[in-house]
Amino acid sequence: MEPILIAKQISKQFPGVLALDNVDLELFPGEVHALVGENGAGKSTLIKVLGGQHRPTSGTLIMNGRPVHFDNPRQSQSAGISVINQEFNLIPQLTIAENIFLGREPRHATGLIDWKTINEHSASLLRELGMTVSPRMRVEYLSVADRQLVEVAKALSQDFRVMIMDEPTAALNSAEVERLFSIIANLRQRGIAVLYVSHRLSEIFRIADRVTVLRDGRRVDTRLIGDLTEDDVITMMIGRSLADYAVHKGAPSENRVALSVRNLSIPNAARDITFDLYYGEVLGVAGLIGSGRSELMRALFGVLPYAGGEISIDGRAVDISSPIQALREGIFMLPEDRKVEGLFPDLSVLDNIMVKRPRENDRALARLFLARKTERGLYRQLLETLAIRAHSPEQLIATLSGGNQQKALLGRALISRARILLLNEPTRGVDIGTKVEIHELIRRLAQEGCAVMVSSSDVPELVKISDRCLVLSGGSVTGLLQGLQVNEDNILACAVAHTRIGVS
Ligand SMILES: Nc1ncnc2c1ncn2[C@@H]1O[C@H](COP(=O)(O)OP(=O)(O)OP(=O)(O)O)[C@@H](O)[C@H]1O
Ligand SMILES: [Mg+2]
Repeated sequence: MEPILIAKQISKQFPGVLALDNVDLELFPGEVHALVGENGAGKSTLIKVLGGQHRPTSGTLIMNGRPVHFDNPRQSQSAGISVINQEFNLIPQLTIAENIFLGREPRHATGLIDWKTINEHSASLLRELGMTVSPRMRVEYLSVADRQLVEVAKALSQDFRVMIMDEPTAALNSAEVERLFSIIANLRQRGIAVLYVSHRLSEIFRIADRVTVLRDGRRVDTRLIGDLTEDDVITMMIGRSLADYAVHKGAPSENRVALSVRNLSIPNAARDITFDLYYGEVLGVAGLIGSGRSELMRALFGVLPYAGGEISIDGRAVDISSPIQALREGIFMLPEDRKVEGLFPDLSVLDNIMVKRPRENDRALARLFLARKTERGLYRQLLETLAIRAHSPEQLIATLSGGNQQKALLGRALISRARILLLNEPTRGVDIGTKVEIHELIRRLAQEGCAVMVSSSDVPELVKISDRCLVLSGGSVTGLLQGLQVNEDNILACAVAHTRIGVS
């Protein structure tokens, strides 16, 4: 069998970084090919070269036996390559259908856009993916998970031979992951080559035929997945093995209540939520999509309004109606979707961590200079603590690898000096070694006296780091587990329960 696509000796030089160094890759019809490596290893860069978003500095692409050059994404698309990027490319203000057909809208003979066909075709694609929303819905109202599926629908609407997915499951729940896997199995059967990037090794072992490992921009090896163990892959990725680790959960360092929530209701999302968050503890928050988990976090940070109920901090009733107020009360939140809510893509890494808007930088230069010096000191510390891979503080955040953007956002939490930290999906898109470091960091924050709430769809992660775990289902608290009760079975049991259950 001939490969559909061959990438030969691809290099990509960015200012200060050789992101790809003579990388080879072959994709065969009907294979699922995993691409793995640490944050910053070059996975997304390789994908962007294949997708026409980056010109390689050197190297050749061969499609169906013929050399091809892509100057832009459109050329790669018309050669039959469909790419779903790590950071979605949908336009929030347009509808689902408009996004799917953007730039290639079918037209009537009169030249007018054929909306009927667009909407009907979109509706059938959405149905195929098991989505029940209307194609006329604007993308901005969709959850992260649904936006992802719209990206898949967009790919399916085109004629393509190669499908590339950059961390497609990072934002999906387990049912949605299963749905995606069956779509991938279907593509594979149709002879399409799938290139699949993920930090979740268990997924790769489930769906991939072969795996290519990148490290520091170089290809370590390409192997049949059946010949490898997870530990082999980790060793290829990070150069050492990572035996199952446990983070140390000491007894909470204090027993003072930081945040007390009583009978809180959030319109259309949650009702009657009651719990206490203590200084010195990590309180996990678990729940399936639709459980009200994200909404609870957002309400506590003043992003969503709550209607009824009480919030107090240090025993004092407070009214949190905006993020600014939340920050003033010493609450900090790491948002769930870094692209939409978290990052200022046009600013540097340093400014993103310090959350400085440009106009604030216009102030007295001398002061600025001093501040910069302190900031840089802090930044260097953070860089070490979080192992952020950036070649300078001035590098634009948008040019960091996805996992490194996430780490930079976490840096904000660290320098905010807030005592109450609300962390949403803190390790989304982060590689396996860094994940361990972030878990240890979260525990350390609690040890130092912070009150930390971690909302995550990764149940093993919650088990690993939480002292206690709040579980929501259908907008209500169905469990508050502590100590040895915090295990996967109990969390899942509460997550599907209709009423509060006592577990032991
Ligand atoms: N536009 C750019 N300008 C400068 N440097 C860049 C640019 N895009 C990527 N880089 C750098 O190239 C390297 C590889 O990044 P890439 O995004 O390919 O990593 P990745 O393997 O996808 O990581 P992750 O798992 O975190 O998504 C990183 O050091 C990154 O900072
Ligand atoms: Mg990436």
